[in-house]
Amino acid sequence: MAPMDSSPSKLDQFLAAIEASVADGSFVRLALRLPFGTDETLKSIDVKPATIRGELKLSFTAHHQTRDLVQNHPLAGAIGQLRKLLSHDFRQGFLFATDHDLQFDAQGKLPRLKRMPATSKAPASLAHDRAKARLIPAAGQSYLTELGITDDAGKVTKSGGDKFRQINRYVEILAPLLMAMPAGKLRRILDMGAGKGYLTFAVADYVANTLGRETEVVGVEFRQDLVDLCNDIAGKAGLARLSFASGTIGDYDASGADVLIALHACDTATDDAIAKGIAVGAGLIVVAPCCHKQIRREMESCNMPGPLDFVLKHGIFVERQAEMVTDAMRAMILEHFGYSTRVFEFVSDVHTPKNVLIVAEKARSSRDPAQLEKLQAAKAFFGIRRHYLEGATGL
Ligand SMILES: C[S@@+](CC[C@H](N)C(=O)[O-])C[C@H]1O[C@@H](n2cnc3c(N)ncnc32)[C@H](O)[C@@H]1O
Repeated sequence: MAPMDSSPSKLDQFLAAIEASVADGSFVRLALRLPFGTDETLKSIDVKPATIRGELKLSFTAHHQTRDLVQNHPLAGAIGQLRKLLSHDFRQGFLFATDHDLQFDAQGKLPRLKRMPATSKAPASLAHDRAKARLIPAAGQSYLTELGITDDAGKVTKSGGDKFRQINRYVEILAPLLMAMPAGKLRRILDMGAGKGYLTFAVADYVANTLGRETEVVGVEFRQDLVDLCNDIAGKAGLARLSFASGTIGDYDASGADVLIALHACDTATDDAIAKGIAVGAGLIVVAPCCHKQIRREMESCNMPGPLDFVLKHGIFVERQAEMVTDAMRAMILEHFGYSTRVFEFVSDVHTPKNVLIVAEKARSSRDPAQLEKLQAAKAFFGIRRHYLEGATGL
């Protein structure tokens, strides 16, 4: 018997992309075309966001032969409605978002998805005054309350606001990447330096309850008290495939990990996390680094006169330079090991100064020696003897 394909269908992926774009504010509009349903008067449907009595809704305008009918749906209901419409009434759907367009086409034997550059760069006109829909909603999540992010009424606490925003943004960035991974390639996610588990819980919740995947999620943390606390909260939240393990990142057996994440794992702990991901060939490595002491020390101990003297005589610029150099070299090493990388700010620096994210997707199994040559030249330029990640990856 042929193995069952449990990967998400093209329609699931299209609906998930719509949901994610509404959640991150990039949604502009949606168009349903090529009707084939039983209502022969229905020609097309256009969907746009609308704030109605303070609540974000999706407003559907159905264009019939002689009149237009408008219906407003909350996000969850809208997605259900779109699923029905794209299964029974329309062969094509077009999502217009500020960062890309996505076409769902069910004209052929098998539905297809086509991603294209964005035609609309401006967000929908109501974007500025609508309540932000979150992939991890604040209300009704017992773990958020236990972790102190929300109060008993499900409202985000004053002290939990920044963390809530960070984990939501992190999950929003992960969402399309995880959705694109076939089920067999999303067996295990490791969160390295999990701390109190804010991100670990959010990812486990999203993967189990939104994506419906049977993925094991493990938070690795060397503080036993935090590991015990988190395992207790995970049990109460009914997240059966989530657990926390005590120990160091370097010693942890990461075999079988398809995704490796880390949020503010201190200094070289981020390198240990990246190295583990590379060693097991994880398909996706996403880290938000923390302090950058190792390279800062290297740069400070180098007393070579050089063209950057005038910059590096100021402590604040050494710090900023060390941060950029550390993370850019991490990206280079990841590229050497066959990953394609993106480095960007994932939240505003109003919420955390540690707001850089490195997203690395495995693109090749072969190595790229040119990256190592560039790395050597860059180290020589900045007076760096060794990047910790070189040693951690056996370079
Ligand atoms: C700044 S906290 C971030 C925690 C969490 N990821 C978050 O963003 O809320 C870093 C955590 O990593 C843990 N940690 C640092 N180095 C580690 C290592 N080598 N192995 C395991 N845990 C480590 C620390 O104990 C701490 O709880």
